[in-house]
Amino acid sequence: MQFTGRHVVSIADFTRSDLVHVLDLAQRMENGEFDTRRLDGKLMATLFFEPSTRTRLSFEAAMLKLGGKVIGFSDAGSTSTKKGESLADTIRMIERYADIIVLRHPRDGAARLASEVSNVPVINGGDGGNQHPSQTFLDLYTIAKLFPKLLTGDGELTIAFAGDLRYGRTVHSLLTALCHFRVKLLLVAPRGLEMPDQYLQHATKAGVSCTELPTLQDAISQADVLYMTRLQEERFPDPLEFDHIRHSYRITAAMLVGAQKHLRILHPLPRVNEISRDVDATPHAHYFTQAGNGIPVRQALVSLVLGA
Ligand code: CP
Repeated sequence: MQFTGRHVVSIADFTRSDLVHVLDLAQRMENGEFDTRRLDGKLMATLFFEPSTRTRLSFEAAMLKLGGKVIGFSDAGSTSTKKGESLADTIRMIERYADIIVLRHPRDGAARLASEVSNVPVINGGDGGNQHPSQTFLDLYTIAKLFPKLLTGDGELTIAFAGDLRYGRTVHSLLTALCHFRVKLLLVAPRGLEMPDQYLQHATKAGVSCTELPTLQDAISQADVLYMTRLQEERFPDPLEFDHIRHSYRITAAMLVGAQKHLRILHPLPRVNEISRDVDATPHAHYFTQAGNGIPVRQALVSLVLGA
């Protein structure tokens, strides 16, 4: 297990023990067992070619809390990309300015390309509909805190994914990671937005059962964790098709009446219509706590790849 200098491009590059190691360190970060000057003298560049609130700001907060500094942009339109500079050339510049790069990009594979030309670690902050590995670390951390048996293996967890499973990069990463653990997966998606075959095959190979269910209500009644996702409007090839299904996946407080008492609802956020505001006041809502876990988890990841 060697983290120093390592790129974080795909969750598939990490073993079970790697995942557990990051979660353990995140717990220690949350407990306050860290030196606030740990990353003194280190500089992070956050290159966000797509909008973000949580990923960019929690990486930046994590870096600052550990004594590091941050440069970057959240509007590629104000950079030389606008003049035609390639992503590879941009990375060749930034690696000379910073010790670590966090990249979000609309194209699948952009983070892998960046990692191939960068001499400093690249963390994928989300590439198209492909992967979002740092989100997965915080999702696993959240699930493990709620249900310690995820890590102890002391019983099976039932986890339902609902919404846009085709274009949702968070569910692609999380499904891949969960295949290291004792879980049963339930999948609920509008027609045409089902989980791509490659992920289903990955689960099958790992011996993890994936069952497609027709309705959200079916998932609610069986799940320990319901992982909701937003319909990824920006990745829909046809706006008319999006309009047609935009209201088809919405969970309300009334729908939770038959849920198990311990059911927890997660969502990578932002939410749009898929979780009604009245769910927030129920004991099942856990998505804001989940987002808060981004700080210790990203502190752990950054510390590890910087060898601090
Ligand atoms: N979960 C997540 O990636 O949120 P942002 O798009 O706000 O970064």
